[in-house]
Amino acid sequence: VDHASNGSTRDDTIDFVGKTILAPMVRTSTLPMRLLSLRLGADIVYTEEIIDYKLIRCQRVVNHLLGTVDYIDDNAVVVFRTCPQESSRLVLQLGTNDSQRALRAAQMVVRDVAAIDVNMGCPKAFSVKGGMGSALLTQPDKVVDILQTLVRGVAKPITCKIRVLPSLEDTIRLVRRIESAGVRALAVHGRTQSERPKDPNRNDYIRAIAAAVDIPVIGNGGSDEIQTYADIERFRQRTGCSSVMIARSAQKNCSIFADREGLLAMDDVIRQYLELCVDYDNHVMNTKYVIQQMLGPLQETPRGRELLAAQTLRTICRLWELNHYCDQTRIKRELTSKTSIENQNI
Ligand code: FNR
Repeated sequence: VDHASNGSTRDDTIDFVGKTILAPMVRTSTLPMRLLSLRLGADIVYTEEIIDYKLIRCQRVVNHLLGTVDYIDDNAVVVFRTCPQESSRLVLQLGTNDSQRALRAAQMVVRDVAAIDVNMGCPKAFSVKGGMGSALLTQPDKVVDILQTLVRGVAKPITCKIRVLPSLEDTIRLVRRIESAGVRALAVHGRTQSERPKDPNRNDYIRAIAAAVDIPVIGNGGSDEIQTYADIERFRQRTGCSSVMIARSAQKNCSIFADREGLLAMDDVIRQYLELCVDYDNHVMNTKYVIQQMLGPLQETPRGRELLAAQTLRTICRLWELNHYCDQTRIKRELTSKTSIENQNI
């Protein structure tokens, strides 16, 4: 792996065989969750879906103080933050309905990621009304146009993530066309656009898709069946997939990626997560949201309610006895910042 001076990694050897993968999740799959998942055993991590036109409006800024690369919009919002520790295993997921815009967005970020994914599975009204997400599943010509444009114009692997169609035959026809566009791997969530998490995942569809194409298929939608590390391999076998992608079970406790008997205790995971939030100055509202997902019904406890009321990262840290860690990290950062300003003045 060759670390370039700009912090990017020039290693495009990522492959999607035999991997366990953190799924793209809006608000959840941001930098601290990705780094923690990698630390605990995930092989590959996806970003949350990032809409192409939002990315195109951003400036790329190297943040020396944090050791990150930030994509920042006109309102100073960090749309995407990454760091060299993850770049060889990071897939950025784009939301798009236009091949040229997708290409511009992909070219902007390509040096900071290992691969680019296109989201063709999102059933949310925002995506579907905008012609993105699962709206693409019924427009195979557009799908091929977007993927082919990316494959030809981007120097890193392109992948895509779909939901299944109600008919298996239609789904197989679609994935054959996706394969012909030159993508490196295909993630399949075994539910249709209108099916909800409580509906069973169509593992038999995933199995048929995996048998019908030559590229690696990444099975997804198994969180109800994946409660332990060992369940990941069982799901892989059930679906006949190359790799497994996990969303909800990882959101609840990302030590699901760790090859161990049981999960780590929730408070242990939260503390490790919070330290990374401090290290990378993660936004307080994003931090709060992700911890709320980990707490689940425990949000009703006194500590859960204090979390809900918290307005600063330090307040959240105090709830898990990490206020000193928060203070120390900030003091160190301030000292580093002062030193570098003084050096600039010499
Ligand atoms: C998602 N999902 C999702 N999918 C996607 O392609 N891009 C995204 O940004 C999101 N965002 C998102 C947020 C949250 C909070 C959840 C729970 C899910 C769908 C997700 O990646 C996955 O396909 C499904 O959750 C099914 O997998 P699991 O949960 O059974 O492992």
